[in-house]
Parts: sequence; structure tokens; C-alpha cells
Amino acid sequence: MKGKLIVFEGIDGSGKTTISQRLATDLEQHIPVVWLREPGDSRWGREIRRLAQQKKAVPARKQLRLFMRDRHENVFQRILPALRSGRSVILDRYFYSTACYQGARGLDMEEILKENRLFAPEADLMILVDVNVETALERIRAGRDSTAPLFETRHFLEQVRANYLKLTGSHIQVVDGTGDRETVYKAVYDLVMRTIPV
Ligand code: TMP
Repeated sequence: MKGKLIVFEGIDGSGKTTISQRLATDLEQHIPVVWLREPGDSRWGREIRRLAQQKKAVPARKQLRLFMRDRHENVFQRILPALRSGRSVILDRYFYSTACYQGARGLDMEEILKENRLFAPEADLMILVDVNVETALERIRAGRDSTAPLFETRHFLEQVRANYLKLTGSHIQVVDGTGDRETVYKAVYDLVMRTIPV
């Protein structure tokens, strides 16, 4: 049996990391799963995190190159081998992030999607954890989101959110991430059960 690819997306502070980790822990009781994130632990992923710490502006094209290299490695070394061996992959960010974030930095979203789809498998289910920017920024300030966002200005996140909401496809499901934790998780879990009944 081939594993399923379940991707979590959303702006910084959306809560997707906490939700996706909880989901992976729950699913592990029933089926083989692996939780991964992007940017990952490749040398490119580490470079992205290092640059983010410096808070220095990185040109959009350079960002794109780094995210693409990191993804290439993640796809061929981790995602495809896991799926082929029957494990499902829960992925915290994927190429939809590149389209929406680097798109918000002025690059062409459609081009980015096209370039990624040449080598990266489409998600079986992409859950967009949607929160308004005000809520996201409050969460980031309160330190509830684990990693520091690369670019957390209000205007930028508004643009990223608008880009996410432009994405279309039958595999894309939007969950309102502003409700209480249990309600949001139940909505996510129900969607996942339609893709991977355990
Ligand atoms: P994280 O906070 O979810 O770990 O993500 C790190 C930051 O990287 C976040 O601000 C979103 C950004 N990002 C991009 O700009 N493009 C991408 O392709 C990915 C995967 C992340």
C-alpha cells in the first residue's frame, strides 16, 4: 500500500505545527507515519534558518533557490522513500508555502507551483489552517508558535494569507484555525479520516 501525503499550511502563528504534530502522534497508534517539516534539516534548510536569525533582508530569488534545494532533498531523500514504503507523511509546510510566501515577495505564484510540480508529488490532502493576521500576530507575540517567522510584518502576512486563499484544487481544505484548540483539531482529524481511514 502506498502512503498518503498530508500537508499542513498556514501563515506563521496559525497553529499548524502543533496540530500536525498531534495528528502524527495520534495516527502513529494505528498506521506507520512520519512527521516532516520544511524548511527541513538539509544544509539548505539550515542555511535558511541561519539567515532568518540574522533578520537581514534576503532577495526573493535567493530565498526561492534555497527553499527549492531544500525541498528537492526532502522529496527525494525522505518523502518519496516514506510513501513508497507505505508510510504516510505528515508535512508541516511544502511547496504551497513557497508559492504563497515568495509570491508575496513579488515572484510569480503560478510559475513556482509549476516548477515544484515537475518533481514534487501533489499532496493527497492539503489542510490550510486559516487564521486572520491579527490572531496570528497575537500568538507569535505570546510566543506560542515555536519558531520565529522569517517575515512577520502585518502587510506581508496579509498578502501571504490572500495567496493561500487563492489556491484551488480538490485536495485543498480550509479549516478555521481561530476556534478553540479542540474544535480546530476535531475538524482537522475528520478531514484526515476521509483520506486515511484508520
Ligand atoms: P516555520 O515557522 O513554519 O518553520 O517556517 C519558517 C518560515 O519560512 C515561515 O516564515 C515561512 C517561510 N517559508 C517560505 O517563505 N517559503 C517556503 O517555501 C517555506 C517552506 C517556508
